[in-house]
Amino acid sequence: MKTLIISFVATLLLIICSILFFPCFGDTNVPRGLQCSEADYSVNEDGFHTNLKTLMDSLAANVVSHDGFYQTQVGEKANKVYGLILCRGDIAADGCTNCTLDSIKVASEDCSRSKEAWIWFRWCFLRYSNSSFFGVMENTAAAITNDTDFEDPSVVSEGFSFMSGLSATAPDQIYMFQTAILNVSQGGKRYGMAQCTRDINRRDCERCLNAQLVNFRMTIGNKRRWEIYGSNCFMWYNDYRFYSNVSTLLSGESCDLLPNHH
Ligand SMILES: *[C@@H]1O[C@H](CO)[C@@H](O)[C@H](O)[C@H]1NC(C)=O
Ligand SMILES: *[C@@H]1O[C@H](CO)[C@@H](O)[C@H](O)[C@H]1NC(C)=O
Ligand SMILES: *[C@@H]1O[C@H](CO)[C@@H](O)[C@H](O)[C@H]1NC(C)=O
Ligand SMILES: *[C@@H]1O[C@H](CO)[C@@H](O)[C@H](O)[C@H]1NC(C)=O
Ligand SMILES: *[C@@H]1O[C@H](CO)[C@@H](O)[C@H](O)[C@H]1NC(C)=O
Repeated sequence: MKTLIISFVATLLLIICSILFFPCFGDTNVPRGLQCSEADYSVNEDGFHTNLKTLMDSLAANVVSHDGFYQTQVGEKANKVYGLILCRGDIAADGCTNCTLDSIKVASEDCSRSKEAWIWFRWCFLRYSNSSFFGVMENTAAAITNDTDFEDPSVVSEGFSFMSGLSATAPDQIYMFQTAILNVSQGGKRYGMAQCTRDINRRDCERCLNAQLVNFRMTIGNKRRWEIYGSNCFMWYNDYRFYSNVSTLLSGESCDLLPNHH
């Protein structure tokens, strides 16, 4: 069911993107999908709502000072709420703050009666739930591609092994975030980026990224621009340099570490 809803949102985005020439692959911060549990609390459940609001405020207040990732929990028993926010590793502080506030706004408007929500923007990911999910890797994800944007057939397998290399090395970076550049053997470049939420361990991060490459191989395998948004990991592939050169969020992290090719 979850997967269905996500793929539906992805398909919808894809259609909107193709029709309106929405800047789908430029590096602007745009909504990428959302998923809310069915309306499962009423306005009368003040306790939960108050805790949720406190949680959101805390995520927004702490994400930048915690290098773009913050998780916390608020309240007790039935009213307890768990949440996290992750900003994309190359996004600077004001972009991270803006994205956090934007995703909180979407959550409170579009998931206003939900005890669980997943909000994806291109620059950040917000998730909260009434049950604990910290550290539990989930494979649910959606891929966004442009169905007319086919990869050069001679680059398909090179591009795929480039991204497999990235999924092997990104988990071992300090922040489980990495960008990389592929020099295509016949000329040209491809750009990749991968990131995991930092509540899961490095091996789960690697499993998560690998699962995305396997599960979406049919969708992304022959595309030259794609993005995958999950609950615990994210991947981007493009034919131009879409990410920022510097990050003040992850200071100390180099942006151009190249994965070892296997
Ligand atoms: C963040 O939001 C402020 C106020 O809306 C805006 O001036 C600024 O350009 C935004 N920054 C980014 C990186 O989008
Ligand atoms: C979370 O909320 C849902 C819907 O109200 C409920 O069915 C579920 O038992 C709750 N989970 C916890 C851990 O309280
Ligand atoms: C999709 O791909 C086609 C062909 O390359 C291109 O003309 C179009 O602008 C692309 N759309 C988006 C949203 O990137
Ligand atoms: C890719 O090409 C650039 C020059 O365009 C070079 O600096 C870089 O080392 C090359 N990377 C690899 C992995 O060969
Ligand atoms: C980022 O680096 C690339 C290559 O070094 C350069 O062409 C581009 O202008 C830089 N972008 C910004 C925003 O500094």
